[in-house]
Amino acid sequence: MITVRGMYFSGTGTTKKVVSAVAEEIARRAGFAKAEDIDFTPLRARDEIYTFGPEDLVVFGVPVIAGRVPNVLLPFLQTLEGGGAMAVPVVLYGNRNFDDALVELRNILEERGFHTVAAAAFIGEHSFSRKLAAGRPDAKDMEIAAEFAGKVADKVRGSVKTPAFGPVAVDGEDPPRPYYQPRDRKGTPINILKVKPRLDEAKCTGCGICVAACPMGSIHEEAPGVVDGICIKCCGCEKKCPEGALYFDDPGYIYHREELELGYPDRKEPKLFF
Ligand SMILES: Cc1cc2nc3c(=O)[nH]c(=O)nc-3n(C[C@H](O)[C@H](O)[C@H](O)COP(=O)(O)O)c2cc1C
Ligand code: SF4
Ligand code: SF4
Repeated sequence: MITVRGMYFSGTGTTKKVVSAVAEEIARRAGFAKAEDIDFTPLRARDEIYTFGPEDLVVFGVPVIAGRVPNVLLPFLQTLEGGGAMAVPVVLYGNRNFDDALVELRNILEERGFHTVAAAAFIGEHSFSRKLAAGRPDAKDMEIAAEFAGKVADKVRGSVKTPAFGPVAVDGEDPPRPYYQPRDRKGTPINILKVKPRLDEAKCTGCGICVAACPMGSIHEEAPGVVDGICIKCCGCEKKCPEGALYFDDPGYIYHREELELGYPDRKEPKLFF
């Protein structure tokens, strides 16, 4: 009996939403067992070693960062033990492009001993914005996610030996191109690497939601205005703060956000690969 589970990193919850739904629906449609999802967003969850075997099917999701798999996750991803499990790589991107992220994720999973049976790129509200792909994945996306799960279930149902599958063919260049570099109108690169959220102390109640939300463990427990580690601009702290007390004011970051909002207004649709 195959056991299905979702496994994801998700700063603002869009990857989680799609991956969890797809995993649940594959299990339901194929009549497989369903195990609890593995959320490796918290720093401590990435200290564990996760080991799978031929009886597992893992729907594995990450957000697209600069057209690639988030580079801070690479050391963790290299510790996965696929053990001949089936995997469904899924990426969520903010309506610009997923570039080579799905190729990269598929390659990592294959290298780590998974057999990739299908893959998908879905669209999620852009981490930096509340306008770009606002509210996505929405009801239409979730219908497509359910159809995708149905087709994956049809493909794997009754399969006895997983090595018959993969690697799944996906869009993107292989080997992946360099990380996407935002630029200003003169073509000068915009560097947001050191940008961190700022705190409006008058609004902060000290609830600690942002501290728990930070996937890098970078927000000071006693003083949420102090971000003393790496910030990947996932925006989980900013979007989850119930008081709207966190914000970004770096001019380069704001310029890039506006350029994205202006440059990619047209709705993109999910792409599915079998
Ligand atoms: C630092 C950073 C870089 C990003 N780069 C891209 C990108 O290259 N293309 C794109 O379409 N979206 C990009 N996004 C947007 C996210 O991929 C998208 O919002 C995704 O749905 C976030 O997933 P989550 O809710 O699981 O964190 C980026 C987000 C962040 C934080
Ligand atoms: S989530 Fe918002 S209100 Fe709560 S501690 Fe963080 S900044 Fe303060
Ligand atoms: S401090 Fe940076 S990495 Fe941490 S939750 Fe906020 S945006 Fe994400």
